[in-house]
Amino acid sequence: MKLSIFILFVAIAFGACNQKNSNLTIKPEAFHQLIDGQQVDLFVLKNKNGIEIAVTNYGGRVVSLLVPDKNGKMEDVVLGYDSLDGYLKADEEYFGASIGRYGNRIAKGTFKLDSIEYKLAINNTPNSLHGGVKGFCKKVWGVTQKAENELELVLVSLDMDEGYPGELQVTMNYKLTDNNEFVITYKAESSKPTVLNLTNHSYFNLHGAGNGDVMDHLLQLNADKYTPVDSTLIPTGNIDPAAGTPFDFTKPVAIGARIKDQNEQLRFGLGYDHNFVINKADEKALALAGSVYEPQSGRYMEVFTTEPGVQFYCGNFLKGINLGKQGKPYKYRTAFCLETQHFPDSPNHPDFPSVVLRPGQIYNSECIYKFSVK
Ligand code: BGC
Repeated sequence: MKLSIFILFVAIAFGACNQKNSNLTIKPEAFHQLIDGQQVDLFVLKNKNGIEIAVTNYGGRVVSLLVPDKNGKMEDVVLGYDSLDGYLKADEEYFGASIGRYGNRIAKGTFKLDSIEYKLAINNTPNSLHGGVKGFCKKVWGVTQKAENELELVLVSLDMDEGYPGELQVTMNYKLTDNNEFVITYKAESSKPTVLNLTNHSYFNLHGAGNGDVMDHLLQLNADKYTPVDSTLIPTGNIDPAAGTPFDFTKPVAIGARIKDQNEQLRFGLGYDHNFVINKADEKALALAGSVYEPQSGRYMEVFTTEPGVQFYCGNFLKGINLGKQGKPYKYRTAFCLETQHFPDSPNHPDFPSVVLRPGQIYNSECIYKFSVK
C-alpha cells in the first residue's frame, strides 16, 4: 500500500513537472477517463534535447512525438488524436497503437497449434488483423512512470482472449534516451502454448502529422527480400528477391517514386503494404531494419529491431475522414508505418520464423526508432 502511494506520488510529480516545460499541444485532461473501471491518462516522456513523447495507457498508444528539424524547430511527427474520445469514436486505424496478440494478418482467422485448431475473429474480411476485435490496442494497460524518460506498461490477457490460447502476461517498456532513441521493449510469458507477434503501429510523417503526404520521404530498407502476398494481403509463402522490382529499397528511394508502377503486388496492397525480410546473420540480433529521410526538414529516422521482419505500410487506407490532432485531416498516403514484426500469417507457414511461445519461455522483442537530422 505504502509503495503504491509512493509510486502514485512520483507519477504525479513527474506529470506536473512534465507539463511545465512542454511544447505539447495536447492536454492530459483530455485523456483522463475511466474505461472498463480502469483509469486512463496521458503520460509524457522527455529527454535532455527537448524531445517529448506522449503516451496513453489506453492501448499503450503513442499519441504525440515531438522531434526537431535541422533548425531545431519541433514538430509532432506521429498521427493521432487530441483526446481519448478521438480514439474511442473514430474508425480504427491503429494510430500509435500497441498491437497484440498478433500484429498483422492471420489467414481466415484460423491456425493450428499442437494439432488444436483455433478460431479468431475475422475483423479484416476474410482475415484476422492486429489481434482481433478487442486487441491490445483497445485494452487499458497498467502503467508506471519509472522516470521522466521511461514508462512501463503491463497487461494480462486471459486464456482464450480473442481466441488465443494461454494466459499471457505482457510487460512493455517505453524509454526515450538522450541519444534521441525511442526504445520499445516487450517481454511476455504464457501459461499455455500460444502464438505471439507484438508490434507498435505508429504512423510517421517527418514533415509533421497532417502536413502533406510522405511520397517525397526517402526510404531505405535493409532487406534484399520480401514476402509477396495474395489479394487479401496474406503471404503466398514465397520469399522473393526485391532486386529489380519496386520493392528494392536497399538504396534510398522516394516512397512515391515507383508506387504507381504496374505491379501485381502494388495492386494487391493498393501501394506498399508488405513485410520485408531484414538482412541479418543472426535472426534474433538487434539490427537496422531501415531508415527514412525527409530532405526539406532534414529529419532522419532509423529503425532497429530484434525481429526478422518489418511491415512497410504507407497509409493507403487513410481517407482523411476523421480529424486528427489540431483538427488536421489525415489523408491518403500522408504517413508511413514501419512495424517491426515476425512475418504475417506465420502460424500457417511452418517455414517462416516461429511465433510459438511455450510455457517457461520468455518472449523478448525490441524496437528502436532513432531520430536525428542530416
Ligand atoms: C496493415 C494494413 C492495414 C493497417 C491498418 C497495417 O499494419 O498492413 O493493411 O490497413 O495496418 O491500419
